[in-house]
Amino acid sequence: MDKKPLTLLPTDRILVAPSILAADFADLGHDIRRVEAAGADIIHVDVMDGHFVPNISLGPPVIQSIRKSSALPYDVHLMISEPGRYVETFAAAGADQLTIHVEVDEDIGQTLAAIGRLGCSAGLSLRPGTDAEALVPYLDLLDLILVMTVEPGFGGQAFRPEMLPKIRRIRQMIDQSGRAIHLEVDGGIDARTAPAVLEAGANMLVAGTSVFKAPEGMAAAIRTLRGE
Ligand code: DX5
Ligand code: ZN
Repeated sequence: MDKKPLTLLPTDRILVAPSILAADFADLGHDIRRVEAAGADIIHVDVMDGHFVPNISLGPPVIQSIRKSSALPYDVHLMISEPGRYVETFAAAGADQLTIHVEVDEDIGQTLAAIGRLGCSAGLSLRPGTDAEALVPYLDLLDLILVMTVEPGFGGQAFRPEMLPKIRRIRQMIDQSGRAIHLEVDGGIDARTAPAVLEAGANMLVAGTSVFKAPEGMAAAIRTLRGE
């Protein structure tokens, strides 16, 4: 299947990326079709290895199975210790965007370049305790920056407002770079917290619980996140 890197999407529009971590794992394909129909822009897939984070979620075989459930871009967030060993496998399974963490102990620049060669857009994510300056050496290689607004590992946690200055700082860095880099936020994003992250400069909202478990329905939840 042709890749749909996130570089094909505008960086000046609010994009909503529902996280399937909050979907029904017994019926993932169904939930992905429902969330696409509800107006999602991107499907966010959280991969956890039980080592980089204290939780285990899903891997390449599941991504390969659910790839056919939607034509939307698949944004794969790798919360794993040795992403360089696996990017080829994730790209082959159907990932369009691959995001690794800046805290991993490997040659980050090399892995980001490998992601690009695989036809995927490349992203770098920061844990809440990691400073924005950690991104500086890699800005030229990035299509997306993912700011974690909770400690990675679990859905349903409370948004950390102390991340807002970091989002603002990264927005400045992106604007100064002159490059089209998406600024994505992930963790505790809902109708109440989205306005502040958007005001701080984010353009891409990951939302698990607030979309898949929305009492008002997924379409209304996605519209509200966009401020419509
Ligand atoms: C957390 C994951 C998130 C998570 C977000 O480690 O990266 O994508 O699914 O879930 P909510 O939106 O429920 O905080
Ligand atoms: Zn995520």
